Amino acid sequence: MSNKYILNTRIHGPKISKEIYGQFAEHLGRCIYEGIWVGKDSTIEHKNGIRQDVVQALKNLSIPVLRWPGGCFADEYHWMDGIGPVENRKKIVNTHWGGLTENNHFGTHEFFELVEQLGTQAYVNGNVGSGSVREMSEWVEYMTMDGESPMADLRRENGRDKPWRVEYFGVGNESWGCGGHMTPEYYGELYRQYQTYVRQYGEQKIYKIACGPNIDDYHWMETLMQKATPFMDGISLHHYALADEWLNKRPATGFPVKEWYSLIDSAQKMDELITKHSQIMDKYDPDKRVGLIVDEWGSWLKVEEGSNPGFLYQQNTIRDAMVASITLDIFHKHADRVHMANIAQMINVLQSMILTQDEKMILTPTYHVFELYKNHQDANVIDVHGSKHDFVSQSASVKDNVLTLSITNFHHEDSVELNYELGLEVYSIEASYITGDELDAHNTFDNPNVITKQLFNDYKLDGSQLNLTLPSKSICTFTIKLS
Ligand code: AHR
Repeated sequence: MSNKYILNTRIHGPKISKEIYGQFAEHLGRCIYEGIWVGKDSTIEHKNGIRQDVVQALKNLSIPVLRWPGGCFADEYHWMDGIGPVENRKKIVNTHWGGLTENNHFGTHEFFELVEQLGTQAYVNGNVGSGSVREMSEWVEYMTMDGESPMADLRRENGRDKPWRVEYFGVGNESWGCGGHMTPEYYGELYRQYQTYVRQYGEQKIYKIACGPNIDDYHWMETLMQKATPFMDGISLHHYALADEWLNKRPATGFPVKEWYSLIDSAQKMDELITKHSQIMDKYDPDKRVGLIVDEWGSWLKVEEGSNPGFLYQQNTIRDAMVASITLDIFHKHADRVHMANIAQMINVLQSMILTQDEKMILTPTYHVFELYKNHQDANVIDVHGSKHDFVSQSASVKDNVLTLSITNFHHEDSVELNYELGLEVYSIEASYITGDELDAHNTFDNPNVITKQLFNDYKLDGSQLNLTLPSKSICTFTIKLS
């Protein structure tokens, strides 16, 4: 039986901020060191210490924004440790993540070099937990002040004349947890104080992000909105998809059918969370000026055997791809309130785009979802009207007369027949998809192309009627040029 949907192509919904496709890179495990930064003496091909295979692959995703340096690490990070000649930089212990020595070779200048190479925007997360107002304020001055000032002069001494652009600045991270175990009442006051000194130098306005709630902590959201709405541009939300309880992380591969669905269920909870948090935000900000910034999301699974538990290194399968596409569909649905999202994390940590092993690199199924979805960036939402299907997630958008329709069949073994009335005349159509034979189909360093983007042909276009059969465990995107 075919399931029927109508696309209201003539009515353009809210714009999907391209920043929903943001990334996150923390000083955690092998994300920054090895994943991005190999240093200037490395035999791995690099430009100014940044590995080029990774940069080239990421550029293909048109990454709109990159969050750095954490995460929990942000509230331990003292930015002055990471500037000046590398040989003089202070070595610290990364107490959150594996207790390793952090040599601070990747600091502010290296981050902006990466931002430049990727052609992306910077989202810098400041330290409230163990920093000071002055430290945060001086960092902003160092990065963004053009004229003469103590921090701008210091930046020049370190080899950078012009300021960088800091589009987004986070005032603390998880202040309810690793960022200081604060109450919302206390953090709300601190936020008001700290953000005052995130100064705007010259023309450049910095978008200020308050630390928001963990998952369904609605009291935190209520308190922050009540205390600080006029002082923020965005407020964060963190939600990770789990296959079981937080303290019982399940394996990324070799899992039973039950866990295929429990992980997907957990990812789908994002819809309820955004809905309920938005209702609270609407009370204080009915015009939706303040963005909900989901700056950590993705699947959090058991670390790979033999890896350092503090490195959060996990494989990435077709099931994680489902988590990504379903979550992106949810963000599209809430495009009026979700202004940015940053999947955790870009390389070698949690639900990554890319995994590396020394000089080798593989693209994950999640990478291919971001590739399949990239045309949704900055497009307007198109409503897909029809009965909700238990195993299908989908979203559509239009930009420059091109309709993009993405469909996920997350049934573990059954294909699905779908029919769409596109509502407008079609000039040309093409489709690509990813699929997996096994529940845990994934790419490895020995076999890197198990999951890769392929052309999808199992469809018929009859006038403006599109009929298709989508296999189980598949994510497909149609690119439809309208006449
Ligand atoms: O992404 C890993 C960690 O998860 C981040 O450092 C922290 O903010 C969250 O708890």
